[in-house]
Amino acid sequence: MPIIAPSLLSANFLQLQNDCDMLNASEADWYHLDIMDGRFVPNISFGPMLVEFFKKATSKVCDVHLMIEEPEKFAEQFKNAGADILTVHIEACNHLHRNLQQIKSLGMKAGVAINPHTSVHLLEDVLADIDLVCLMSVNPGFGGQKFIPQTIEKIKQLRSMCNAKGLQTLIEIDGGVTLDNAASILSAGADVLVAGNTVFKSSNPLETIAKLKNL
Ligand code: DX5
Ligand code: ZN
Repeated sequence: MPIIAPSLLSANFLQLQNDCDMLNASEADWYHLDIMDGRFVPNISFGPMLVEFFKKATSKVCDVHLMIEEPEKFAEQFKNAGADILTVHIEACNHLHRNLQQIKSLGMKAGVAINPHTSVHLLEDVLADIDLVCLMSVNPGFGGQKFIPQTIEKIKQLRSMCNAKGLQTLIEIDGGVTLDNAASILSAGADVLVAGNTVFKSSNPLETIAKLKNL
């Protein structure tokens, strides 16, 4: 069964307690928090303070996606705020290997996200050190965008790279995941589905999460 990670970027920020209660009651495994700095991506979202509130209000795994420059400066703050998984962008890291060691030494799972233009083969030499690869299936910065179809081929490539090395690295797909494309994303080899709009803009988020979980 896939891991479902609703993205709270699409939640109603005036009713976050309701959305956290819904998450707790749902079949979601994780919740996904998008941190944007207005530099790495052309948008600003929220920081560690809100992560801390979510952590207190939810019982699921806290999956933090950093879309920020110099992520090493903030890893400890996000650990203290409650991140269980911390994902950095390969495009924002000059010393990715060092950043991954830092995240792990702080006691979190280490994720690497790659933009749509970045080849999965750039991960070859560091794959054994990564707990999760987040394949961006939209250009990061905004919720509610359309899934980029070439991602399917990238999932297959990454899955065979992991298999060839005998690695259990999780493959997460982030952006434009819908009830219509989720099955093909999973059959290409993905493990984790991030879903923002599909969950939070649906008339029944609880049911939508259940549908994604039981595809
Ligand atoms: C985009 C974020 C995504 C976003 C996904 O930059 O990384 O996590 O919340 O939203 P949807 O599922 O609406 O595309
Ligand atoms: Zn994300």
